[in-house]
Amino acid sequence: MSITTLAVIGAGTMGHGIAQVAAAHGLNVLLHDVSLDLIHAARERIRRGLERMAEKGKVVNVELALGRITAATQVEDVSLADFVIEAVVENAEVKGDLFRRLDAVCRPHVILASNTSSISITRLAAATQRPDKVIGLHFFNPVPVMSLVEVIRGMQTSDATLRTTITLAETLGKTPVEVKDTPGFIANRMLLPFINEACYALMEGVASAENIDKVAQLGFNHPMGPLALADLIGLDVCLAILEVLHRELGEDKYRPCPLLRKYVEAGWLGRKTGKGFYSYREQ
Ligand code: NAI
Repeated sequence: MSITTLAVIGAGTMGHGIAQVAAAHGLNVLLHDVSLDLIHAARERIRRGLERMAEKGKVVNVELALGRITAATQVEDVSLADFVIEAVVENAEVKGDLFRRLDAVCRPHVILASNTSSISITRLAAATQRPDKVIGLHFFNPVPVMSLVEVIRGMQTSDATLRTTITLAETLGKTPVEVKDTPGFIANRMLLPFINEACYALMEGVASAENIDKVAQLGFNHPMGPLALADLIGLDVCLAILEVLHRELGEDKYRPCPLLRKYVEAGWLGRKTGKGFYSYREQ
């Protein structure tokens, strides 16, 4: 079945990026979040993102692409989507509840994908009556720039679901990599211990945030250091992923750094709140 209308659930850092890329590639997008204000704010971010794409010489008609995006204020408003990508907060209860509701409103053949960074796809699938049509589709941040997507097969995901999802990822210009359903999949299982260790080094006063990041940039040739990257990802998202890794794999090496926890308690979540390990507020 061809996919012409994509539902994106959650219009935050990742959801708005996924919606932007889908609209730029000619798909109709139903964009849902908990309030219309959040959807409108995401539309503005998408407009700026599409304008940046056009400035960089990508063939994209900004107004046409924006016109493909429709606000879906209720979950029921995505009932006619051909494929659903969920990108709400990294919380297993919230996602489980959403999958139950999406399962009730979407047509039976529709695939429900999650952009989760670490939560079990098998568990999300079990919240539905269509576990064979539930899959992980894990984009990277910023979505319009990063080409990788991890495609995560749950215990009951069918071959047909996997094939359709890989085809969709390729249609969106991404390079899919198939991964088994394990905590943190591949990328975050490698990345989060690195970020966590950088937080410990900062907490212990080994070096300043700038110098920790400089080591990764100049020593490992990384485009940005782990603390700047954590600010980009969102410190709440980083903490949530580490908690899943720690709980599910049961190893001390994944224990979230207390400094990271304190920053999240303070509401310092990184770029999205204007402050994390660095300040992003206008001086
Ligand atoms: P975010 O905090 O920027 O956005 C989450 C959005 O979900 C918010 O707009 C919030 O209002 C909305 N939301 C919360 N509960 C909802 C509900 N019940 N129904 C509808 N919308 C709801 O979070 P972000 O960073 O976009 O993360 C979303 C998902 O993507 C998470 O699972 C995260 O682990 C994953 N992810 C995040 C990456 C990152 O770099 N930030 C990278 C790859 C995956």
